[in-house]
Amino acid sequence: MIIGNNVLEFDEVESTNLTANELIGSKTAHDGTVILSAYQKHGKGQEGNYWESEAGQNLLMSVVLCPTFLKPEKQSILNKIISLAVAAFVKKILPSENVKIKWPNDIYVDDKKIAGILINNIIKGNTIEYSIIGIGVNINQKLFLSDAPNPISIAQLSNKNHDIKQVFLILIDTLNHWYELLRNGLIASIDKKYIASLYRYGIYHPYKIIDKKVYAKITGVSEYGHLMLEGDDTRHYECDLKEIEFLI
Ligand code: BTN
Repeated sequence: MIIGNNVLEFDEVESTNLTANELIGSKTAHDGTVILSAYQKHGKGQEGNYWESEAGQNLLMSVVLCPTFLKPEKQSILNKIISLAVAAFVKKILPSENVKIKWPNDIYVDDKKIAGILINNIIKGNTIEYSIIGIGVNINQKLFLSDAPNPISIAQLSNKNHDIKQVFLILIDTLNHWYELLRNGLIASIDKKYIASLYRYGIYHPYKIIDKKVYAKITGVSEYGHLMLEGDDTRHYECDLKEIEFLI
């Protein structure tokens, strides 16, 4: 077991990803170290957004990995296994819910977001020296104040509170399982499972792609991690995160 061989706990930090970065700098964090905090003063979301989390109510953590076996051009596979692990974790707690991965790494239950992932890779030459994997899962929070469009928590769906330490251990276990598959080189089955877990896969939905509204279906994810879609006019699209917006 690599992930969680060293767990550093804090009551409050700016952001667990920033703490992880500092601790890497001071050689206090190494392969498998997990930074866990009850609260973040400036939790970071994707694309410069803020990650809202009420003190002590949710899982806020960063995992430090040294995936030196993975070439930088293959780094999107890390995103896939972490997304699959967090989705599998939510499914373990909420077995009857429809849990999906909204590309690239939002974890959804139906049309609501229950968890987010923010990965910062530190690349030196041709090696991923460190990967800082930030994970936020909404566990017991009932009221969300920020303008994030559609948050939901495990407690809202299960009508009960969950013990944060207990669910943390389940998440660690699930992350280790998926990281093990990657280290064993099971890339094809990871890719297959990721595609099978994608929110809106293969069904026509509205999107905004570079300022144009289109109806399209997701057909896959490219080698470089871009989302591939086919429009209802049979046009093909390949988008990075900034180029596409999922519309309701
Ligand atoms: C997203 O926008 O969906 C990504 C959210 C990632 C939030 C987690 S909470 C723990 C870690 N520390 C941060 O500052 N962000 C990530």
